[in-house]
Amino acid sequence: MNSITISMLAALSLISGFALAADMPPEGKAKCGTCHAIDKSSVAPSFMEISEKYKGDKDAARKIAANITMGGAFGWEFGEMPAKGLNANDAEIQSLSKFIADLAK
Ligand code: HEC
Repeated sequence: MNSITISMLAALSLISGFALAADMPPEGKAKCGTCHAIDKSSVAPSFMEISEKYKGDKDAARKIAANITMGGAFGWEFGEMPAKGLNANDAEIQSLSKFIADLAK
């Protein structure tokens, strides 16, 4: 094994460790973390609870992305979410939506 292969394997194991632990992605921490946590609701529903709401819905990631982009109230009775959280861009919204949708699978 050459060193490139070894470092690729190291990177892969980091990525899979990350997925298993379901840590908040960095952009989620920066742009959503003031209000949302993965597994605890405080001023907003936890990402896990949101994921449960959409469990089994094949269109979950798309619907979640649309709601993040729009902001507002979604029936959780926590109040209102600012559109795009703290200024997340479209790529970040797409990847966070997929992350949320996959949590409860
Ligand atoms: C200032 C606080 C705040 C920030 C920042 C914030 N949210 Fe929210 N979010 C809320 C609140 C409050 C609700 C619940 C609204 C309600 O009561 O219906 C919510 C609801 C949601 C929902 C539920 C949508 C649904 O369909 O039920 C999703 C998904 C979500 N937020 C994702 C995010 C993501 C991703 C980010 C970062 C890009 C983010 N939020 C940033 C406050 C916030």
